[in-house]
Amino acid sequence: MIIDPWSSEKYEYEKLFENFGIERFTPNLWNDLPNAPFFFRRNIVFGHRDFDKIKRAINSNGKWAILTGLMPSGKMHFGHKIVIDQVIYYQSIGADINIAVADIEAYATRGFSLKEAERLAIEEYIVNYIALGLKPCRIYFQSRNEDVKDLAYLLAKKANLSQVNAIYGFQGSTNMTHVFAPFIQTGDILHVQMEKYGGLRPTLVPVGVDQDPHIRFCRDLADAHRLYSIIPKNEKVGIFVKTDENVKELLNIAEDIAGEHGEVLERIDSYKAVYARIKDIISLDYELAEAERKFSEHIFLLPSSTYHRFISGLDGNKMSSSKPQYALFLTDEPSDARKKIWAAKTGGAISAEEQKKHGGKPEECMIYELFTYGLIREDKELEDIYRRCKEGSLLCGQCKKYAFQLLEEFLNELKEKRDNARERIKEYLH
Ligand code: TRP
Ligand code: SF4
Repeated sequence: MIIDPWSSEKYEYEKLFENFGIERFTPNLWNDLPNAPFFFRRNIVFGHRDFDKIKRAINSNGKWAILTGLMPSGKMHFGHKIVIDQVIYYQSIGADINIAVADIEAYATRGFSLKEAERLAIEEYIVNYIALGLKPCRIYFQSRNEDVKDLAYLLAKKANLSQVNAIYGFQGSTNMTHVFAPFIQTGDILHVQMEKYGGLRPTLVPVGVDQDPHIRFCRDLADAHRLYSIIPKNEKVGIFVKTDENVKELLNIAEDIAGEHGEVLERIDSYKAVYARIKDIISLDYELAEAERKFSEHIFLLPSSTYHRFISGLDGNKMSSSKPQYALFLTDEPSDARKKIWAAKTGGAISAEEQKKHGGKPEECMIYELFTYGLIREDKELEDIYRRCKEGSLLCGQCKKYAFQLLEEFLNELKEKRDNARERIKEYLH
């Protein structure tokens, strides 16, 4: 089983934990964050890697960054909105926000020219991001950032073709620009830790779960460039020097830093190892990485990630701009949105009589899903709809009417804000 980031399949979320080692995004990770947002409370963000590092940074007022990307390959729909909802939340709690416009990836994998990609990125995405409430931050184009492209090339030194094929299932006929796309994405994710962009610090990449292969790949590449490997075992930690240069000096440093974080148990030069008893692995890793930077410039903390569920299209399959009749776009006219809502798949019974008697199935309803994905922000109101649907006192006609009312209000307001947003784009593009 592989995850293909360029296909449009639906996912069996449960399998991702077992097969790929994605961790569950449990409430202990977010319930003490300020104003826990709906996408946490409703388990829309359901998985993560290394979110603990980010949580630690937030709680200790440390530096941290967000890096995510947008693929300018069509119109922005409600499925795309969930990422920017998260970015806006993280911005509100003090994150340093970086957004990559994946124009090289759109060129490589979707057949767009860079020019078309630029137009779509601005008109469809960035303008909507600003209208949705994103404050000034850093948005850049992959094709115009030399540091991103340099990293893509230079870090590729520690990857080979079989490794890339094993992750992505590339074939002999795969176009080379496509093969290069994951390296560019690695450049995106890691370059924010370069001195010029804020320095070494925990970086969170909030993405849809289809992006996990890129995250794994990026983490592997970052790891391959580290000079130490840190291996916790029960109460103990082994710190191993991976290179053959500066071994003595690196061991001295490891010994010093380990000593500051706990108790050094043993140093064995012939194993290039320091063993210690240390609880706080996160800050050990951080300080070792800082020290490693004196020896190599390509030292990065492994990035953290979160994964969200995809919103369904109104037909119950994955929402996609290639099926516009079942996708809700942020630029839809209310009259179009009304038609789509009206035709949406619900969890209603075959007749009103039947539904009054036995109730509906909100779990299978696209309207209810829309509510969950942010059209309704208050949990109490959502729970109320759930209950009334289940008990048969709320019928689909009335419910759709309400959904449309909320949507119409949202679309109209967004449209107005977009006009204003266009004038402010310069504050975002870097
Ligand atoms: N590959 C992502 C997509 O298809 C876009 C992207 C490019 C991205 N660079 C990134 C996402 C860096 C997260 C981080 O949507
Ligand atoms: Fe969905 Fe509302 Fe119908 Fe329930 S009443 S099935 S939530 S549309």
